[in-house]
Amino acid sequence: MKTPVRPASSAVEDYLEQILELINTKGYARVVDIAQRLSISQASVTNMVQKLDAEGLLKYEKYRGLVLTTAGEALALNITHRHKLLTDFLQLLGLDERTIYHDVEGMEHHVSPATVHAIESLTRQLKRQPALLQRVREGAPSAEPKSKQSKSS
Ligand code: FE2
Repeated sequence: MKTPVRPASSAVEDYLEQILELINTKGYARVVDIAQRLSISQASVTNMVQKLDAEGLLKYEKYRGLVLTTAGEALALNITHRHKLLTDFLQLLGLDERTIYHDVEGMEHHVSPATVHAIESLTRQLKRQPALLQRVREGAPSAEPKSKQSKSS
């Protein structure tokens, strides 16, 4: 069965992404944890969570936390996939972690399925062709040789 194709807003995607990650890492998602991760007040998170509940994307159970519905989980998996793919791609290009995180958090909401598909294909090809990848990385301004760097900042 297909989930509705109505595109989710960036905010909705950010919530679902964090909720899924909390569930995967801690086993549950609570309002307080979401608020902390998104740097948003608990009151705002509660409002949004109630809205997502009304839209059928999750079930809000006061003492158990949040449970994603099938539709909510599908959206969460989708944004999580885009996040991982874009992160993987930019890491491959040798960009620094801060830039990657910042850019991915913006880009992930705006890439179409066609672009996702194209980047997947490009990532696969680059991984198979180390010599080409090396040339691409040498041309990227913020590419830094990882091996020579000690982790000080
Ligand atoms: Fe993300």
